[in-house]
Amino acid sequence: MENHLTIKLGEKKDRKGPVIFSEYKRGDAIRKALSMSREDILFELKDSKLKGRGGAGFPTSTKWMLTAAAKSEKKFIICNADEGEPGTFKDRVLLMEYPELVFDGMVVGGYTIGAQLGIVYLRGEYEYLLKPLEDYLEEMRKDKLLGKNILGKEGFDFDIEIVLGSGAYVCGEETALIESLEGHRGEPRNRPPYPINTGFLGRPTSVNNVETLAAVSHIVVKGGKWFAKYGTDKSSGSKLFSVSGDCEKPGVYELPWGTKVSELLELVGAKNAKAVQIGGASGHCIPKSQFGRTLAYEDIPTGGSVMIFNENRDMLKVLKNFMEFFVDESCGQCTPCRIGNVKLLEGVEMIEKGNYTFAHINKLKDLGRTMQLASKCGLGQSSPNPFISILENFKDEIFNRGNGGRNGR
Ligand code: NAI
Ligand code: SF4
Repeated sequence: MENHLTIKLGEKKDRKGPVIFSEYKRGDAIRKALSMSREDILFELKDSKLKGRGGAGFPTSTKWMLTAAAKSEKKFIICNADEGEPGTFKDRVLLMEYPELVFDGMVVGGYTIGAQLGIVYLRGEYEYLLKPLEDYLEEMRKDKLLGKNILGKEGFDFDIEIVLGSGAYVCGEETALIESLEGHRGEPRNRPPYPINTGFLGRPTSVNNVETLAAVSHIVVKGGKWFAKYGTDKSSGSKLFSVSGDCEKPGVYELPWGTKVSELLELVGAKNAKAVQIGGASGHCIPKSQFGRTLAYEDIPTGGSVMIFNENRDMLKVLKNFMEFFVDESCGQCTPCRIGNVKLLEGVEMIEKGNYTFAHINKLKDLGRTMQLASKCGLGQSSPNPFISILENFKDEIFNRGNGGRNGR
């Protein structure tokens, strides 16, 4: 495993991409932002049509506008780097190779919403990045890109701290993350109120994904209209995809929104793919017949995780693995998720043993749909996605396993 002694932060691999991986120099976005009014920055963001890259796709200009408008002497901006979704590793690449984009985006955010402190909530398993990232922040302080009167701008004081998460998947949910930062057990809060009003320490807080902040840096320098030239009308710009599984070239790719799944598969050398799980464990699994669909908010919205499974994979085992993960990671606070995930996993085990009825499996799918509606946070709302999509899209394979499914009626 890499440790901080072997990591050279900011060292780029040979990555190509139209937006995020395009040319950028540390401090550029901060310099430009400080020459603009907050309103002008918000206008550029609005023109860019940037949506949150964590997966949910909330418009960034709206989030920052609401946080800027909230009345409070203290405000915060949080970079959500608790990248816990299985199959997702793009934020780690951004932090390691493009820290200037992420930190500059935070400073721009601090200036725009009127925050004094930015906090990076770093995934516990990325502990080896903590020291190099802190060293990087120290360099920024020396260059006056952080601290008091940033780049000589009277009255703009802003600094960044990094806090290490403790290894719970649910802490990627923004209110659980805030609870964890405050020193409490990482459990989601009811929303509303949203963090833009009542966030960290009860103050207005903007929580943004690592990739969103990186995109902001480019938008401020090159303009919202430049960004919106890429992608589709409803999904502007590009997206980073974490690609893993059965392909020749796994890794992180930047592609414009609107790219077809089949195009992505060709790019990464996935020759015998029969299934693609899009959006990590909590996403949907699509079969070959749907590879012509597009990666875009209007068709398949995603935080960017793409897991590829070839003809040799047992899709029931894949599903079992996902459901075991959710049973482990549910915080247990609300009943639909705490009990529901256990019941869905039991259903998978019944199919595995050939000891099920179709009536029961259909009831479990209904339970999954109820969980999507009734769970308190994104974890329970999305954990039934693989259960429903894999059982529906791969029913021939799963229900003709040769274990009989003797009681299967
Ligand atoms: P959400 O749609 O409820 O909220 C998205 C963002 O918009 C939040 O920051 C929220 O505070 C803000 N927001 C929403 N409505 C608002 C309003 N009326 N006023 C002010 N702010 C508002 O989605 P949520 O629950 O935050 O996240 C779920 C998503 O997370 C899922 O779609 C999934 O794709 C993604 N996800 C990402 C993971 C990762 O590792 N990046 C892991 C697991 C899930
Ligand atoms: Fe906790 Fe799951 Fe309920 Fe979210 S949905 S609050 S993770 S029990």
